[in-house]
Amino acid sequence: MTTFDRALDLVITHLDGRKRLLREETAASREALEQLTRLPREIVKAGAPATSVSTQSKQSRLNVLRETILATERDPRLANVRQNLVFGVGNPDADLMFVGEAPGAEEDIQGEPFVGPAGQLLTKMIVAMGISRQDVYIANIVKFRPGMPQGQSGNRKPTVDEMAASIPWLKEQIETIQPKVLVALGGTALEGLSGKPQSIMKARGSWMSYNGIPLMPTFHPSYLLRNQSNTEKRKVWEDLLKVMEKLGLPISEKQRGYFLR
Ligand code: URA
Repeated sequence: MTTFDRALDLVITHLDGRKRLLREETAASREALEQLTRLPREIVKAGAPATSVSTQSKQSRLNVLRETILATERDPRLANVRQNLVFGVGNPDADLMFVGEAPGAEEDIQGEPFVGPAGQLLTKMIVAMGISRQDVYIANIVKFRPGMPQGQSGNRKPTVDEMAASIPWLKEQIETIQPKVLVALGGTALEGLSGKPQSIMKARGSWMSYNGIPLMPTFHPSYLLRNQSNTEKRKVWEDLLKVMEKLGLPISEKQRGYFLR
């Protein structure tokens, strides 16, 4: 191959990349336009914020990341995870982002994080905060369900290698969304975000920081499913009250008193 041919190849590869990005941008803008035309006229006239440009560009950046994960050859460190990508769900412009461990069986089937029993509890907790699942963003440290040895059912904790291979994607999600507060659900999420294993029992309830973003570690909802005592539920709820305070969300007396006997 001549130098000219090699240069030509490089230019073609570069242009292919630009074409893919442009397609993503165009698809996202078309979607934004459709959403805008669906808005009642009077809302637009009153100047209520439509889906903002920044939300659209965040969504398209997330779309590109999703496509990149799907298109890139699987990292050998992820040889023992399932095929289905469970990318993340929610508002790309969310102030609050929850980070869990890895998808379970139900998440693997539906392609959405936290839709199984633990997810249903997480959704109830979000609603108890006076917001909805659509207001927040939910993702996991590992984006594919960790595989179980043949003939075994259930879930397993992701390995250190699986976490290391996946964390750059989570980092990109966080950098794109720029949430005001992060919540680490359980020890694995805390380990992934802080970069070192540490006890969730000791860490929960105290503010930490992830690249300058306030990070609240709390128990994983599956822990609460196993330990149904009001004392443990109250601990998580107190952590979430701190999150609400940090975000300036209104807190009623009723909300303050949840799980107190
Ligand atoms: N547990 C997690 O940590 N993440 C999910 O998506 C589901 C269960």
